[in-house]
Amino acid sequence: MFEIWINAINQESIDSAVRISERVVLMTKYDALGFGALNIDKLFKVNKIAGQDEESFVIDYSESCGGSAANTIVGMARLGMKTSFIGKVADDREGKLLLDNFKREEVDTQGIVVARRGRSGVVMGFVDKEGERALYVDPGVNDIIGQKEVNLHHVRNTRLIHLTSFVGEMPLENQKKLVEQLPEDVKVSFDPGMLYAEKGMSILRPIIQRAFVVLPNEVELKMLTGTEYKEGIKKLLNEGPKVVAVKLNKKGCFVSNGEESHLVEPFRVKIVDTTGAGDAWNAGFLYGLLKNKSLMECGRIGNFVASRCIMKLGARAGLPKLADLHQIGING
Ligand SMILES: Nc1ncnc2c1ncn2[C@@H]1O[C@H](COP(=O)(O)OP(=O)(O)OP(=O)(O)O)[C@@H](O)[C@H]1O
Ligand SMILES: [Mg+2]
Repeated sequence: MFEIWINAINQESIDSAVRISERVVLMTKYDALGFGALNIDKLFKVNKIAGQDEESFVIDYSESCGGSAANTIVGMARLGMKTSFIGKVADDREGKLLLDNFKREEVDTQGIVVARRGRSGVVMGFVDKEGERALYVDPGVNDIIGQKEVNLHHVRNTRLIHLTSFVGEMPLENQKKLVEQLPEDVKVSFDPGMLYAEKGMSILRPIIQRAFVVLPNEVELKMLTGTEYKEGIKKLLNEGPKVVAVKLNKKGCFVSNGEESHLVEPFRVKIVDTTGAGDAWNAGFLYGLLKNKSLMECGRIGNFVASRCIMKLGARAGLPKLADLHQIGING
């Protein structure tokens, strides 16, 4: 009798705990969800970049958490947005670093799959004394993210989903399938990066047509459309997106929705390292969009967040906090 009573209580409390946790998940509406590669960036400062049959030596080494969408999502979390992520890491040291870092930044990690086998994604960068770089990407388990591993509940429970590139075909196909299934009120933001831009318009069309905003840099836009950026923006807008924003490096950015267009001047700052400038820019711009700022203001916030990023070493160290937006006259 006593055992039955205990069991009844346990079952009841378990059921109600499950109901409460389901309700918590249902109630949590995210501002932005990222879906892109998760990598540890391993940066080797070398004497010189070795050519074929040559040998060189390492002077210094550092590692940090990276991945384009992941950097952008961390940038948005720092600005106080509710964020989550879909991706895959392995059960290894690098995977733990990536998950711990997201948790510290208050990015929800429930949508990230931990694979029992395989390696987490790694990007190895070799930088010589002149600052020339050679990069090797080891996508690891990023490239075997299956359709069933994309948590549809998370995906439907966000205002915006931000898509960036993977090396392999499987995740790209899953991103295409995912955008087909999205409820209409979920906005899609798409930064193709070089890896996807190289694939060309015909391969990327299903994502571009469903995107609310496309965020290439100048070179990527030219790859996609074959023309200089002002003409390229028109071509992209004709495919369906409502906004196209082009990152122009030291010239700032150009933003357009077809009705209004603005060239937005960058912030002049002392540059330490431009790694992740574009990802930081996306964070500021998307923050502005989700806060219903004007197009011009979104571009300015993008330039501001990017300028803070390039003042520090690495893609994330300089990403500003919400309170820092006061510096450009924005109060949350
Ligand atoms: N030299 C610079 N001075 C001031 N701002 C800069 C400079 N370089 C980059 N930025 C800022 O960073 C933003 C993004 O840089 P960029 O145009 O190089 O994007 P990207 O090529 O996508 O970058 P990434 O290499 O991170 O992918 C620019 O729109 C600008 O606001
Ligand atoms: Mg970029």
